[in-house]
Amino acid sequence: MRHPILKFSGGILFSTAVLLWASMGPVLSEEMIHIDRFISPEVCAGCHSEIFDQWQNSMHHLSHRDPVYARAAQFFRKGLTDAGEIEEAESCVKCHTPVGNRTGFPMKVSDDLSKTPEIATLGIQCDYCHSAESITKIHNNGLVLKPGHGEDDPGVKFGPFDDADPDYHEARYSKLHTEAEICGTCHDVKHVAFGTNLETTYTEWKNSPYYSKDPAKNIPCQGCHMYQKPGIPATGSTDRPLNPGSAADDSVDRPHIFTHYFVGANSYVPGLLNDTAKAGMAVERLQNAATLSLDTSGIKDKKLSVTVTNTGAGHSIPTGVADLRQVWLEITIKDKNNQTGFQMGALDDKQDLPENTIVFRVVFGDGKGNKVVNIAKAREILKDNRIKAKEKATELISLPFVPTAGSQVTVRLLYRSMDPKILRLIPGDPFEPLPVVEMAKAQAKI
Ligand code: HEC
Ligand code: HEC
Ligand code: HEC
Ligand code: HEC
Ligand code: HEC
Repeated sequence: MRHPILKFSGGILFSTAVLLWASMGPVLSEEMIHIDRFISPEVCAGCHSEIFDQWQNSMHHLSHRDPVYARAAQFFRKGLTDAGEIEEAESCVKCHTPVGNRTGFPMKVSDDLSKTPEIATLGIQCDYCHSAESITKIHNNGLVLKPGHGEDDPGVKFGPFDDADPDYHEARYSKLHTEAEICGTCHDVKHVAFGTNLETTYTEWKNSPYYSKDPAKNIPCQGCHMYQKPGIPATGSTDRPLNPGSAADDSVDRPHIFTHYFVGANSYVPGLLNDTAKAGMAVERLQNAATLSLDTSGIKDKKLSVTVTNTGAGHSIPTGVADLRQVWLEITIKDKNNQTGFQMGALDDKQDLPENTIVFRVVFGDGKGNKVVNIAKAREILKDNRIKAKEKATELISLPFVPTAGSQVTVRLLYRSMDPKILRLIPGDPFEPLPVVEMAKAQAKI
């Protein structure tokens, strides 16, 4: 390993910070960046107050502190003995605590995370994304960073404008920031040792009709997720109106300012912080993602056909950690006296789903066909029945009887961000019941 001071031997960047770093050392890899080079989001908020308010309590801001992630990561790390499994289980901080990981601490999940420097606890933040100059690979966080030298010498912030000229920091147009790849580099996750595809949001998008080589037709992640505002879900099945305004307080008007709420489907974690606005935006997004339709023509043969169409997501439903998320069908048949005769996919007393529920999800295996919950052990994909962008999934349901005339069939597509069976495995205080969101509903009379 080269001494970090050598790489600055050109002298230009030979600052006191570097000297200090070298003398305090550990000697770190060439790619290490001194933590003092990163500027706190609070400083950016001084001029970009609206963008800051949007980003605050987003899942990017919370990526390190999110209790579901943080506790799952500790739990998955415990008791492993296989070298490849340990390597994966230690790697989470690369995306969830990226400023810390690039500046030397934490390097592993098993580091004493209570020692994480304050700025790194703020997750995926302004100066991290806006120091990104390029990417080396579109998975497992390949961002190449070029931060400035702290608050007094902020350096270049890369963004979507080619004519911005702020006094405080330099500004430079970056094509990367307008493309799905800046998101994809973290939103495609591969097992570091076994290569298993753990998250494939970017690849799903790239294989969807939303991707086009023609820039006029291409709708990248930003085209939905950075158009959303409260009341404007901005999905594939809704309008995605421009958001005119200014990028900094008291600066020029522009036709569109990309919003920074970064809302996906998680209403639980923002809800824990009483951020009802962000939790509500996740619900609005989910309610504009899919439609349901019902075909009762086979009812005399005790058959019911339910079709789910992904109308709004630029990737599969669900995406991301699709092994942990639950999207399922709840089917209820009531006779004309309103008595429930048949039900499938209804939560039991423990908030669990019955075995026969139709759940759209990914299931990982240990390489020998056995299901695993711990992603560190994921050597294969046993099942993936999710609904791809703009595609349909039809499920044929066998009923135990022929519903009587006048019966009402109700089907709902429901979402919750975590299987409580997995949460219950995690030691410590139990998690409260997770919110269940109705994504779509269809009804028919027999
Ligand atoms: C996950 C990465 C990410 C984070 C975190 C992030 N941004 Fe951005 N930001 C972007 C991208 C990408 C764009 C450009 C989108 C495009 O052009 O398609 C952008 C655009 C901008 C712009 C140009 C105006 C606009 O919104 O269109 C400003 C200013 C900005 N961001 C400031 C900030 C500040 C301040 C923070 C922290 C409070 C922040 N950003 C956090 C990725 C990020
Ligand atoms: C003293 C005020 C001020 C502070 C503090 C500030 N900015 Fe800016 N920033 C501006 C102004 C003004 C613009 C130009 C806005 C425009 O042209 O529409 C700008 C533009 C930007 C752009 C767009 C660049 C482009 O070319 O597309 C980004 C990205 C950005 N800032 C990020 C940040 C980040 C990250 C921080 C914190 C590390 C920060 N800014 C702190 C005033 C500031
Ligand atoms: C056409 C609009 C659209 C595009 C393009 C799009 N998304 Fe989404 N995204 C959605 C909708 C709608 C949801 C909510 C339904 C769901 O969870 O799939 C969502 C949910 C998510 C979630 C939460 C997933 C979950 O189920 O918990 C993540 C993460 C996400 N998107 C990231 C991305 C990334 C990264 C890209 C680009 C590679 C992208 N999205 C492109 C519309 C879009
Ligand atoms: C440095 C890695 C990184 C980059 C770059 C990044 N993300 Fe994320 N993103 C994450 C992580 C990690 C989370 C999950 C945090 C958690 O749930 O604890 C996340 C969460 C999200 C969510 C919320 C998901 C939910 O379940 O609600 C959305 C939406 C999202 N990202 C969109 C984007 C978009 C759009 C971009 C590109 C402009 C982007 N991300 C760039 C790492 C990244
Ligand atoms: C290459 C980047 C990357 C790495 C490495 C990574 N994650 Fe994530 N993680 C993400 C992204 C992106 C999301 C958001 C996806 C979504 O919302 O469905 C996420 C979301 C999560 C969530 C959902 C949190 C919630 O509140 O629902 C959990 C749990 C999680 N990750 C655990 C882990 C664990 C444990 C590890 C290490 C074994 C890990 N992650 C490593 C990118 C990463």
